[in-house]
Formats: sequence, structure tokens, C-alpha cells
Amino acid sequence: MRDFNEHTITDAVIDRFKDTPDPRLKVLLGSLVRHLHDFVRDTEPTFDEWIAAIQFLTRTGQISSDTRQEFILLSDVLGVSMLVDAINHRMPEGATETTVLGPFYVEGAPVFEDGEDISAGLPGEPLYVDALLTSAHGDPLPGAVVDVWQSDSDGYYDVQRSDLETAALRGRLVADGQGRVRFWSITPTAYPIPYDGPVGDLLTATKRHPWRPAHLHFRVSAPGYETLVTHVFVGGDPYLDSDAVFGVKTSLVDPYPVQPAGEGPGGRRVDGPWRRLDYRFGLKPV
Ligand code: BEZ
Ligand code: FE
Repeated sequence: MRDFNEHTITDAVIDRFKDTPDPRLKVLLGSLVRHLHDFVRDTEPTFDEWIAAIQFLTRTGQISSDTRQEFILLSDVLGVSMLVDAINHRMPEGATETTVLGPFYVEGAPVFEDGEDISAGLPGEPLYVDALLTSAHGDPLPGAVVDVWQSDSDGYYDVQRSDLETAALRGRLVADGQGRVRFWSITPTAYPIPYDGPVGDLLTATKRHPWRPAHLHFRVSAPGYETLVTHVFVGGDPYLDSDAVFGVKTSLVDPYPVQPAGEGPGGRRVDGPWRRLDYRFGLKPV
């Protein structure tokens, strides 16, 4: 076969994959070629535009490393990460909605006991979290493992700060006999996603901002249930309706109500106002 033109080349390329042994790979490649070719026919890029796109993707790869994944960030700002998440997490009634994992999750976070403080002494408005881990039906899940991580009061995660020698504002807790975990921390703040690379250039060129509304990250696992990856956003944050990565769901927004100075949970004396988060996480059975 030869003499392909703009009308015949798509079927020819798809046909060239006809002997692909893995049926799923064959479907994915066929659809990719069809949509990619349709995009090209639709937009009719010039050679300069085509090479600019190739250079953008090249920079995206070049800036990626063991600690930075610019392709995932690109997927995030294009809404692809949340679309894949939505397709894979059609949740039953009573199960908590999911959102992106993000680049700042670290395996092997320090383990904390009930009521301990995960802030490693970093400054900020005190926050007390009381989380209940249940099945989607509301049955408590004693022994559920909860990973939590968050930004500091300047909007940085510990792994972004070269001045910190140990983990901070992240930890692992195990649910007690009632399926609860409780800990002290500080109130998270909004922060920009990393924008010093090609994804940042894309946001700048399109007059988009890089900000994410303040949130705590949670990852909850329990035998017999799908691992839940989600956030709980701080109500009233100015970026709730323009999250750079499209991760906000109304069910994941909580007011984190402000509490007056005085004695807090566990007998802790708090000098100024503080906040608390009481939240139930419902897990979907596997
Ligand atoms: C985060 O919430 O940590 C995050 C998610 C997506 C991109 C960048 C950061
Ligand atoms: Fe985050």
C-alpha cells in the first residue's frame, strides 16, 4: 500500500497495528491514531506549530526526574488526571469522592499515635482533625491506615523545602477500635503547583493561574476496600472554583470551623483561635 493522502492515511496506520497480540493495546492505539489524526485534520497545524509542540513535549520530558513528573502535571492541568479518576471511581452512595494524588505523597511517612501533632513545630494556625473511617454503609473500620500530608502556612510541602531535614506535616495513623484517627496540625494554605517548567509556560501563555485551594490530603486503606485517595478542602478558599488541576468536589469542602482560644482536645492549651476538621471517610468495598 502506498500513495496515502489526508483522507486515507488514518485507516492505513490503524491497519498497520492489526496484528497487535494484546487486544487492549490494539484498541488504545487505534483510538489514539484516529483522534490524533482528527485533531490534525481539524486544526491543520503549520510545520512551525508542529515543531513547537514537539519541543514542548521534549522540555516536559527533560525537566522530569525521580522527584518531578512534568507529564503528570501536564495531565493534571489538562483535566486528564481528574477524567481518568472519575472514570475509575464511580462511587456508590455513602463512599467518599476521590481526587488526584498529586506529586507530594511520600511512602514511609512517620507514624503517629492518637492525638499527636504532625506539624514538627512549624508555625501556623493550630488545627485539630478527628476523622472517622467507615465503609460506604457507615460501618467503622478499626485498623484502617490513614496517610495524611499537607502544605505549610507558606504553601510549601516539606519535600519542597531544602531547610527541613525531617518530614513535617505528613504522617501515618492507624484507626482505633471505633475507626477514628485524631491528630493536631496547622491549617493548610493555598499554593501554586510547580510553574517553573513547560506546564507553567502553558499556564502563562493561556492566562491561567497555577493555584490550588488549601486542602489536606488523605490516603485511606483497609483490607477488603478500595484505597481512597482524596483531599478535604478548606471552605471559603478563593481558589475553590478555579483549582489549577480541577480537583475540587463540593462533598470534599469543609468549613474547618474556627474555635476560640482556650483548652482544646486532649487538654491542649491553645493561645489563639484554632480550627477543627471533623470528617467521615467512606470506603468502597472491592
Ligand atoms: C497537590 O495537591 O499536592 C497537587 C496536585 C496536583 C498537582 C500539583 C500538586
Ligand atoms: Fe496538595
